[in-house]
Formats: sequence, C-alpha cells, structure tokens
Amino acid sequence: MQEQLRPLIAGNWKMNGTGAALEQLAHLKTLLEEAGEIASDVLICPPATLIHRAAQRAEGSPIRIGGQDCHAKVSGAHTGDVSATMLFDAGASHVILGHSERRADHGETSAMVSEKVQAALAAGLVPIVCVGETEAEREQGRANQVVAEQLAQSLPDDFGNTQIIVAYEPVWAIGTGRTPNIGDIAEMHAHMRALLVERFGAAGEAALLLYGGSVKPDNAGEILRTANVNGALVGGASLLANDFFSIIVVA
Ligand code: PGA
Repeated sequence: MQEQLRPLIAGNWKMNGTGAALEQLAHLKTLLEEAGEIASDVLICPPATLIHRAAQRAEGSPIRIGGQDCHAKVSGAHTGDVSATMLFDAGASHVILGHSERRADHGETSAMVSEKVQAALAAGLVPIVCVGETEAEREQGRANQVVAEQLAQSLPDDFGNTQIIVAYEPVWAIGTGRTPNIGDIAEMHAHMRALLVERFGAAGEAALLLYGGSVKPDNAGEILRTANVNGALVGGASLLANDFFSIIVVA
C-alpha cells in the first residue's frame, strides 16, 4: 500500500513573463497566506531571467522557485546556456528537465536529459523529469512503450538516492485544452509507478508522479484524485495566480 505522498503543484511559465508578471507571484503569496495551511507543495518555474527576483519575492512563503532547463556542464563555452549551479545560485530549488518542448525545439534526447539530471543533482537541485507520448504514438498503441523507454533512458541510476519527481505529459495534451480520460491517466501512472519501483525500489514507491497537459481549475480535482497522481505540472493555468491557486487548493 502506497503511503500518502504530499502532492506537488508546479507551475511552468514557459517563455512568458517580464518583471510585471511578478505581481502574479505576489498575489499568489497573498492568497496562500490567507488560506493558511495547505496540503501540497507549491513551485513556480518562471523564465530564467526572473528566477532571482521571483525567489526574493517568494521569501517567507511556501512558494519554491524552479528553472525550466539547465545545461549538463557546470560552466564553459556554451553561449546562451544556463547551468544548474547558476539556477541554484539564483534561488532555484527545482528544475524541469526533458520537457517535450525542449525535446522538440532543441533536439534533446533522453540521454542528454539524463546528463542534465546528474548536473542538477550535483548542483543541489531537485529535477522534474518530463516524459510523454505524441498523439501518433498513442494511436499506434505505443504510449506505454514510449514512456517506458523515455524513463529508462532519461533517469540516471543514482536517481534512486534522491526525491524522484517525474511528470507524465502527453505531448498532444499540452496547451491544447485536451486531456486523456481519467482511465488512461490512471493506467499510465500505474505503469510508471511499477517501472520506477522495479528499478529504484523504495525511492520508486516514494516518487512523485505529476500529471501535466491542460490541467485547469475545472479538471484538476478529478485528475489529482486519480491513483498514483501525486501532483500536477501546470502551464497556461499557472500564469494567473487565481487559476493556479484554485488548482493548489483542490490538491
Ligand atoms: P499546459 O502546459 O498546462 O499549458 O497544457 C503544461 C506543460 O507543458 O507543462
């Protein structure tokens, strides 16, 4: 029997927001203060340019700040890239890795994601590793196989020594307003749990399995009540504090 895991509700702002967006963070902080005790952990992953300011604004609140990607190396001749050490130094506690938009836009392979995971762990960040099938792969009946391969190759062996967080994000559900039916989410999350337990033992039991892809205030409750769903990775609905807060309170 799986122990009750404290859920994580993570917001992925993607390439959205300048300094003015920090007002949403401040508003979320106020909403959380007014709410008092909450049952989940809260994370916001703004663009890299906002991490330092966001971490300062979030101080004294339960909101943690994360990055959306990092380079696999600590430093060096990699123009435009940001290392895990830099994210940590700027105030991040977590980093999203292997998001499907990184895999598609930047040709990131699971092997590259695994190197980034190791860099993140070495820098003291908690990685959130994203996996998920395309619509064509689901239609071909290959969703379980694709996710199994991504998990096998994106997670380094020493991942089991840490807090494992994996986000299942079907590519076709991201930003589309479409979500898998609850049965499909339950099946995929059970599949991922079994694979993680098989490979990492107790750390797999304790892994947080987030669902991501068109999570909104009106579908969050049903999704978050699904077995083996231990939180959500929220894109569009994390940009406005009121929407994101509605998702946090149902968790
Ligand atoms: P969405 O994005 O909530 O806007 O679908 C989720 C994500 O890509 O993390």
